[in-house]
Amino acid sequence: MNMRFSSRDCFSQNVEDSIQKNISLATYNTFRFAYRAEFFAIADSLDVLKALLAWASRFKHEVTMIGGGSNLLISGDVKGLVIVNRLTGINAREHSGNLISLTVAAGENWHQLVEFTVNQGWFGLENLALIPGTVGAAPVQNIGAYGVEIKDVLARVQVINRLSGDVYWVNARDCGLAYRDSHFKGKWLSTLLITAVEISLKKQGRLLLTYGGLSDRLPAQPSLKNVFDMVCQVRSEKLPDPKTLANAGSFFKNPIVSQDQHEVLKARFPNLVSFRFEDGFKLAAGWLIDQAGWKGKQFHGVGVYEKQALVLVNYKDETADSLLLLEAEIKQSVYDLYGVNLEREPVQLPSLMYLDHATNLETLN
Ligand code: EPU
Repeated sequence: MNMRFSSRDCFSQNVEDSIQKNISLATYNTFRFAYRAEFFAIADSLDVLKALLAWASRFKHEVTMIGGGSNLLISGDVKGLVIVNRLTGINAREHSGNLISLTVAAGENWHQLVEFTVNQGWFGLENLALIPGTVGAAPVQNIGAYGVEIKDVLARVQVINRLSGDVYWVNARDCGLAYRDSHFKGKWLSTLLITAVEISLKKQGRLLLTYGGLSDRLPAQPSLKNVFDMVCQVRSEKLPDPKTLANAGSFFKNPIVSQDQHEVLKARFPNLVSFRFEDGFKLAAGWLIDQAGWKGKQFHGVGVYEKQALVLVNYKDETADSLLLLEAEIKQSVYDLYGVNLEREPVQLPSLMYLDHATNLETLN
């Protein structure tokens, strides 16, 4: 393998000294599960990140990068080096006409970025207010809410190859962005880490108000700020704040079914909540779980949130064992009732998808 990291120097030595051993990850995941990282470090600059990756590469340690830890299900101790991404910096370029290009480092807080853009009067991110987590995590699961996904405004993603240390930009259209999915969760999981994103916003834009439950509560001619405020209000009413009740947002994806399957289900369950999606329909998983009787249920320190059945919460458990059992029970009961498979939304750690180094290099081509 052709390594492009520089040889050990004073800087690398300092970075090496900052690596801690056997650290609890309880405060680094919003479920607050208390598993441990074998090695742990914080990257607050690209140079530090490169040096950490060089160290991990030298000792053949796996690398896991985490942002805000708000879309993570940690279910065991994590081997190798866990790096918390704290890269910061926002750079805006105004183009002639209507366009703003925003380059944002991956460790910036997502909601603060949305608030900043709304205060500037820039259109594009307002429907994505109050989503917990960092900017670098946003493309990983293609965050979305109220009819908008980051895919709609994302131009490019800056990545670092954890094996070679190369930093480069990937066009958004090559990142496999789909409903709560991307290559960063799949074939790039163990090789490419996100260091920054470039987002395109508009000075004069159109508000997207098609999502029922949002538009119903807005004035006739809402402003950008009205939409931002309403999204914050609706989310606060429905979703638990991870600072006060441990959770990782929607625990399941809304399942997508064919037109035929949808027809059969609609005949059996006339109140089924569903939306047209590509060639089929997206079902509201929250409705399926709710109707199956799970909403508000508690089980060995974990439970189903009382106001939104799609959210699983952790009241006091230090391990993910009960949550995994609850997940299995919910999936089984939804399958028995509707014949629909629920898929988990958060990313699991330790990852089951670590590949060996040689395979990693191949999958990048
Ligand atoms: N519903 C119920 N019972 C429930 C929950 C929902 O009947 O307990 C029904 C309601 O009829 C409601 C419909 O399901 O109208 C949809 O619910 P909601 O508008 O709350 O949206 P969701 O489908 O549950 C998705 C995203 C959220 C996002 C909202 C708003 C997924 C997996 N979740 O939730 O994203 O904020 O839409 O756009 O797509 C997240 O990913 O973590 C997240 C919170």
